[in-house]
Amino acid sequence: TSGSTSQSTSNSTTYLSQRPIKGDRILIFDTTLRDGEQSPGATLNVEQKLAIAHQLARLGVDIIEAGFPYASPGDFEAVQKIAASVGTESGPTICGLARATKKDIDAAAKALKPAAKARIHTFLATSDIHLEYKLKKTRAEVLAIVPEMVAYAKSQVEDVEFSPEDAGRSDPEFLYQVLEAAIAAGASTINIPDTVGYTMPAEFGALIKGIHDNVPNIDQAIISVHGHDDLGVAVANFLEAVKNGARQLECTINGIGERAGNAALEELVMSLHVRRQYFNPFLGRAVDSTEPLCNIDTQQIYQTSRLVSNLTGMLVQPNKAIVGANAFAHESGIHQDGVLKNKLTYEIMDAQSVGFSNNRIVLGKLSGRHAFSTRLTELGYELSEQELNRAFLRFKEVADKKKDITDRDLGAIVSDEIRSF
Ligand code: KIV
Ligand code: ZN
Repeated sequence: TSGSTSQSTSNSTTYLSQRPIKGDRILIFDTTLRDGEQSPGATLNVEQKLAIAHQLARLGVDIIEAGFPYASPGDFEAVQKIAASVGTESGPTICGLARATKKDIDAAAKALKPAAKARIHTFLATSDIHLEYKLKKTRAEVLAIVPEMVAYAKSQVEDVEFSPEDAGRSDPEFLYQVLEAAIAAGASTINIPDTVGYTMPAEFGALIKGIHDNVPNIDQAIISVHGHDDLGVAVANFLEAVKNGARQLECTINGIGERAGNAALEELVMSLHVRRQYFNPFLGRAVDSTEPLCNIDTQQIYQTSRLVSNLTGMLVQPNKAIVGANAFAHESGIHQDGVLKNKLTYEIMDAQSVGFSNNRIVLGKLSGRHAFSTRLTELGYELSEQELNRAFLRFKEVADKKKDITDRDLGAIVSDEIRSF
């Protein structure tokens, strides 16, 4: 990798592994429909999952983890339908989760059949805490099961990802052995989860570097990271991991997920975008390269956030980075004055670059069908003619009782309709 940089903040290139790193772009693996749906209270029906999957494809994610097929018939059906209608040749890879057992892997393979590009993501814990209390297995047993199940998954699909669950609290030496065995058995992505959100950024970066330096066949696999936000540092952990060779980020829209959630896609993508010059050298590029670091269409971010919030019912806090209602609002007089003179005084990115609309047409009872459908499209909803008609009737009923119809009201109207389809 190139070491020189004009920014003093980039001097941490010295942490980088000296070994070659596979991949010079960051792959975005979205797990909103799998780990995100594990948020307490965030269940989605099959139609809602399909609507989100279509929007994720428009957003440009590389891989959609569509669910855990063995977990329930509903999950199986959702993965199968997403595989069929979103997993086209030009669309994203569709992934299904499976524990390291044949029945889970069989269910995932079956559900993924219709996808042009299918991936099985299989996992087994490697931390002593999980081995002793949850799995009741020895390290030797885990070391035998992993290659056997990775090879079994590989006999069903070409693209296999393996995760050593609770990697953040696993003994690194044991982790290296398990990863080496998983890659030798055919895993083309190895994903390092900080399952309980315990690891600090410098530690997580060092863990990724350790994997690069110590797993002999690491050049045959992409290193991915997965993390939870229990201590609020999941995104920081991932960015440290990118600096040390991670090339796939597993994340969710609005950071939803188990407990405190997963690393938030919008924060990762905009960090890589806004601070491209900082990250370029870590990807072996010239500091001033303008080539995007990932394939995401940033202008689709806000619509995707609204869609996920409306369909899951999980509100986005107003001060949430990138997609919160206040993310681009300026309250104090000094800030307003500065921004009016030149936006650069208090804005590091343009609201439009993440898809906030310039157009502030207020919808009310006098609004027509055109304004209504345009705003729905801006918010990421794709409705059929019949669905639009029903939603428009409902909109008029609500508008008769409420003067201004906000995006949140629109979301509620459409979510009710999608639920009843
Ligand atoms: O958090 C975790 O460890 C997971 C795995 C299944 C990757 O979600
Ligand atoms: Zn997780």
